[in-house]
Amino acid sequence: PSRTTQGLKDFVGKTAFVTGAGNGIGRAAAKLFAARGASVAVVDLNPETGMQTVNQIQAEGGTAIFIRADVSSEEAVEAAVQQTVATFGGLHCAFNNAGFTGQYVGFHTLSLEDWNRLIAVNLTSVFLCMKHQIAHMLKAGGGSIVNTSSGAGVVGAPGMPHYTAAKHGVLGLVKVAAKEFIGQNIRVNAICPGVTDTPMLRTFAGEGTELERALVSSLPGGRMGRPEEIAEAAVWLSSDAASFVSGESMLVDAASVC
Ligand code: NAI
Repeated sequence: PSRTTQGLKDFVGKTAFVTGAGNGIGRAAAKLFAARGASVAVVDLNPETGMQTVNQIQAEGGTAIFIRADVSSEEAVEAAVQQTVATFGGLHCAFNNAGFTGQYVGFHTLSLEDWNRLIAVNLTSVFLCMKHQIAHMLKAGGGSIVNTSSGAGVVGAPGMPHYTAAKHGVLGLVKVAAKEFIGQNIRVNAICPGVTDTPMLRTFAGEGTELERALVSSLPGGRMGRPEEIAEAAVWLSSDAASFVSGESMLVDAASVC
């Protein structure tokens, strides 16, 4: 059984910018930030699911706006950061989480096109988001950034060279920015989720399929994570309770990779 920190109101007066907030881990994090008092920019490519997240937050009494952006586009990312600041008057916490797994392919059959697209959405996007968030945070006097890596950011995931490279790259960006900006009161961390029950995961391990059974039985804890369990770690790293934590990557995977 797990407990939730929804009852805390430690983000009142703060703004959180969450990418990939239209589904899965990002949606759970957007809802938790909002429950804890933050105004939330729900950033996603998909307006339909993004608006669902906003509606769910508002139905629970929270504050959120939807911003449609492809996080692999610098123009879109810069505009999203500007819109967040213009709407809420600040941007204190960023959770750069949008991403996708891509197809399982052998190293020798991965096309350059598929490599480029996955790197753009899972790695270049994190650089772009951090760049524009940090530019604002430097002027504003500080902030906190959490990026989503993966177990595949720590160990190699066979069949996923592009995903593994992107997620390792995210941890590299975290280490550089943490060192560069800790003196300016900006903390930068990452979470590395294990197998988590989200729409992304379900695109290849559908409920009741042989692949799902094989996947779950390979997990030491015998079950997938819930998006809410991953969100708790991301929001804790974003919170003032983690004021001395920067440059860290936290596996949230019930001992899958250790
Ligand atoms: P999801 O597919 O459920 O949600 C991802 C969201 O990102 C979707 O709403 C999608 O529209 C959005 N998105 C995708 N491309 C985008 C783009 N170019 N611009 C803006 N938004 C975009 O996925 P999930 O599982 O919640 O994944 C979130 C993050 O967690 C990803 O970075 C993923 O790689 C990572 N992760 C997921 C794991 C899992 O088992 N579900 C395990 C480890 C890491």
